[in-house]
Amino acid sequence: MATHEEALKAVYKPSAEFQKNAHVSSMEKYREMHKQSVEDPDTFWGNIAKDFYWKTAPEGKVLDYNFNVSKGKIEIKWFEGAVTNICYNVLDRNVKDRGLGDRIAFYWEGNDPDDSAKYTYGELLKLVCKFANVLKSQGVKKGDRVAIYMPMIIELVVAMLACARIGAVHSIVFAGFSSESLAGRILDAKCEMLITTDGVYRGTKLINLKEISDGAMAKCKENAFSVKKCIVVRHLGDPVNGTDDKTSSPAAKRPCKNLRTPWNPDKDMWWHELMTDVSEECEPEWMGAEEPLFMLYTSGSTGKPKGVLHTTGGYMLYTATTFKYTFDYHPDDIYHCTADIGWITGHSYVVYGPMANAATSVMFEGVPTYPDAGRFWEYVDKYKINQFYTAPTAIRSLMKFGDSFVTKHSRASLKVLGTVGEPINPEAWVWYHKVVGDGRCPVVDTFWQTETGGHVVTPLPGCTPAKPGAACFPFFGVVPAIIDESTGKEIDGPGEGYLVFKQPWPGIMRTVYGDHERFERTYFSKFPGYYVTGDGCRRDADGYYWITGRIDDMLNVSGHLLSTAEIESSLVEHPSIAEAAVVSHPHKVKGESTYCFVTLKDGTAFNDDLVSELKDQVRKTIGPFAKPDYIQNAPALPKTRSGKIMRRVLRKIACNDRDFGDISTLADPSVVELLLENRPNIGDV
Ligand code: WT7
Repeated sequence: MATHEEALKAVYKPSAEFQKNAHVSSMEKYREMHKQSVEDPDTFWGNIAKDFYWKTAPEGKVLDYNFNVSKGKIEIKWFEGAVTNICYNVLDRNVKDRGLGDRIAFYWEGNDPDDSAKYTYGELLKLVCKFANVLKSQGVKKGDRVAIYMPMIIELVVAMLACARIGAVHSIVFAGFSSESLAGRILDAKCEMLITTDGVYRGTKLINLKEISDGAMAKCKENAFSVKKCIVVRHLGDPVNGTDDKTSSPAAKRPCKNLRTPWNPDKDMWWHELMTDVSEECEPEWMGAEEPLFMLYTSGSTGKPKGVLHTTGGYMLYTATTFKYTFDYHPDDIYHCTADIGWITGHSYVVYGPMANAATSVMFEGVPTYPDAGRFWEYVDKYKINQFYTAPTAIRSLMKFGDSFVTKHSRASLKVLGTVGEPINPEAWVWYHKVVGDGRCPVVDTFWQTETGGHVVTPLPGCTPAKPGAACFPFFGVVPAIIDESTGKEIDGPGEGYLVFKQPWPGIMRTVYGDHERFERTYFSKFPGYYVTGDGCRRDADGYYWITGRIDDMLNVSGHLLSTAEIESSLVEHPSIAEAAVVSHPHKVKGESTYCFVTLKDGTAFNDDLVSELKDQVRKTIGPFAKPDYIQNAPALPKTRSGKIMRRVLRKIACNDRDFGDISTLADPSVVELLLENRPNIGDV
């Protein structure tokens, strides 16, 4: 029996039994496929493309690009000239071309364990065609942007696929963002329409999404932009103005006594009313491979979120291929990803990747701890889930409740366990492997970003000898390098530096919506010729990649990226605040937490009321998940003579660590002592 220390450092090989059936069962095969994918992308991706339906098939050369800012515009083109539709490929191809209409696409598991539903590929195709016709009848056309602000319900999948079917660009905003954040995203993209829901329960908490949507539409109006229409799904069964519509929708079984749905008859329309008497046929809009599919906002270091734009052909192939290989998905497997569709993980690995493989998935509306901390494992047994994909922060928070919540459920169906969103500490990795997977299931720690569209550095479960905490090796098409900051040169062999990629893979973003220059500046200007991830990375003597975390002005709290600038600009909106500086502080469950230094205006006092007002302010401007953890009074901030805040010093102060290194460039070194004295007591985090 290995000791705990040995378990953390061990190498975990897939069992011979697992390998027998795996898509890639040896490192030789992986290396051979990887070599072809990067040296001869035309053949590698050209062959994969043959599994898909194209109106005009790709031919010959599949990739055209410039990755070097000094040689002109950054440009990435996959399958230019080919024509397809991703909605056709994830629905019609499965139903009509492959005869899989009766296969379950989604088992839907509601917030309450007795609330569930299932949808076949055939049923989804009809729903999507109907809603595509609704969108068209409301004037939505190819190229229009549609904002979607919805919880984890099937109508969200229907809405996004209907947009894809007619060539409208969906912009999904996670339904935990505030009115202000939603408004900012609608304004940036000039969305024609907003699709939302009356409300949702997350655990015992009721969230009135329509009210938040109305707040966002009002803010748009203040900025001289008017969202033309708002379609509302009736999910909680709230009658409007006392008149119930008496539909047989599942919402009727889910009465909610406390939810008032505000209504503007000029703009608002019920989804279920629009969906009556609509044709179940809708010819897809045939899209160029490089025409936009969707945009999804991610935090940017300037504080203004960036609309990451993905296009059609490359994203389709990349999500499908990563899904198949990373999770070793086989027909009839039941797969589940706990992520919300509002984040990229949900786009790529709840919807597009699984559906492109005609997979059967479980979609979950609720939270991991409701009704108790055994919820995941309860429904793993209920649906006999084979592949389970979640975030390190969820694993760490469940570890705290003890093993019995896991072990009282069988979990015998589990075959592969995945994680994503932030570095996973070996402690959590080993618990996931040993307790959740009974030591039987390979764990895949998948590194990727909103920008990369799909997994870029990841183990493959049937071949990679995994090391706890390492993202391991590049996926097909990906060529990583590590760059030394001081020399700007690639490091060979073992070493640590900036993680970059040397050539495009099909799923990489193509631009920042409306701001191509920002795309070039953010990702390609630091080291010309390379895509810069913003993450630090170490390569060990065996060539394994270990992601060490962000090395830019970004924080990763519970797997959600936040920019320090975005939180700072929210804090300084408060009338008492003159200046703010936000740094990351390690946190046992969330990975990182936000530690805010605030300098008050003259004549204002620092007290508990102010602290809660500030926390509330950030909650309101960004969203509840961004609420700061710690706020410290900072009569002054450590600045260089040129006025630049030395964040490295603030990070040390936040941790009560006096090992500052060289602080001789500080304009006033006495600030450091003052700040150390002013630290709040934050206990053991
Ligand atoms: C950032 C991207 C990609 C889906 C969810 C987050 C961090 C993500 C890992 C991992 C270490 C990871 C990185 C990355 N990250 N996965 N397996 N190991 N770090 O998407 O919001 O675009 O965040 O998440 O820092 O840059 P995102």
